[in-house]
Amino acid sequence: MNYGCIGEHLKHSFSKEIHNSLADYKYDICEIAPENLDAFMTERNFSAINVTIPYKQAVIKHLYEIDGSAKEIGAVNTIVNRGGRLYGYNTDFFGMRALILHAGLDISQRKVAILGTGGTSRTASAVAKSLGACKILRVGRTPKDGAITYGELFREHSDTEIIINTTPVGMFPNIFDTPISLDAFPRLFGVIDAVYNPLSTPLVLAARERGIPAEGGLYMLVAQAVRASEIFLDTSYPENTLDSVFKKIKRKKENIVLIGMPSCGKSTVGKIIAERLGREFIDTDALIEERAGCSIPEIFENHGEAHFRGLESEVIRELAPKNGAVIATGGGAILREENTRALRENGKIYFIDRPLELLMPTEDRPLASSREAIERRFAERHGIYKKTADITVPSVKTPTDTANLIIEDFCL
Ligand code: S3P
Repeated sequence: MNYGCIGEHLKHSFSKEIHNSLADYKYDICEIAPENLDAFMTERNFSAINVTIPYKQAVIKHLYEIDGSAKEIGAVNTIVNRGGRLYGYNTDFFGMRALILHAGLDISQRKVAILGTGGTSRTASAVAKSLGACKILRVGRTPKDGAITYGELFREHSDTEIIINTTPVGMFPNIFDTPISLDAFPRLFGVIDAVYNPLSTPLVLAARERGIPAEGGLYMLVAQAVRASEIFLDTSYPENTLDSVFKKIKRKKENIVLIGMPSCGKSTVGKIIAERLGREFIDTDALIEERAGCSIPEIFENHGEAHFRGLESEVIRELAPKNGAVIATGGGAILREENTRALRENGKIYFIDRPLELLMPTEDRPLASSREAIERRFAERHGIYKKTADITVPSVKTPTDTANLIIEDFCL
């Protein structure tokens, strides 16, 4: 391996794509089992590597020299091989700091709780200190290494103002898990999650639902990679590199999710967008029919709406981990919050707002088969569509016009 990233489980990693956007070296993702780590490090058959969970501390004993902040933090995520000698750095410090600033959080004089006790937790603690936090708590399942327990956090520190998650809870494939409930912290002021896959974890979404600024870990991932790549090549990139690579990777990973009334054009518009952007197109209603082995009117007729809604939620839950797709939902998908939350983890939600008079009843739509039914659905749901959407797109002309508006916004 020339350049790359080592860790135990790396299927979720975006690092290859990020480094490919930065430089033209070959960057490989290399999963290493714990029992093989020492042999890999002794062989040192690489030019430069990144190191991730759970080896950021374990690699230290193999290093010839370790830079100041990495030493202080006690975790290394970047190693350069110079003539057989290994030099260690911590670019996560730069990454975490950049993420907090990108989120617009001023944490000086704030009380910060850092969830987790691994290498990233130590990094977050050093960053919080450097940004002037007045109290920094590290929280673990067991009270080791100066950390407090979750029980203590709840009992004694309900005045916590900033939460930084450095545990892997919520990370792909377990994207519906959350490390902590936010209810116990009435003075919460900001949430940072180092997890970047999904783009917005349930923790981040829970904070935003409460009006609390929150940011997932993608910006940190890109920032640490930019800094690591500079160290690899002993170079420096232009200042806007971080923001432009972040934007590019986020856009590539984010799903375009279409919501709106029956017959507003979600499937037609979705297909046009997918075609134009070279993306996979997924129609939740088509998946439901495939799974049920019959048409939607038949599902409604034979099993009722509740059964249909169950299938719809099941399908949406399975689609939530997807990246880079265009997903057209059924008109009622937004009626259940669990569906919206699942779609939001990796998706930007667009409401195709077609005026009532342009919506046409059709026989194959059990809940929108007459003018009267459409009007009722419109009255019940228009507010929900608006509230759920990240962006509302007016749809008064052709599907291509609507698709263009969405593409324009998404690719901005
Ligand atoms: C429904 C809309 C339909 C389909 C099902 C239920 C609804 O999708 O999911 O008939 O509740 O509005 P379209 O919006 O594509 O018609």
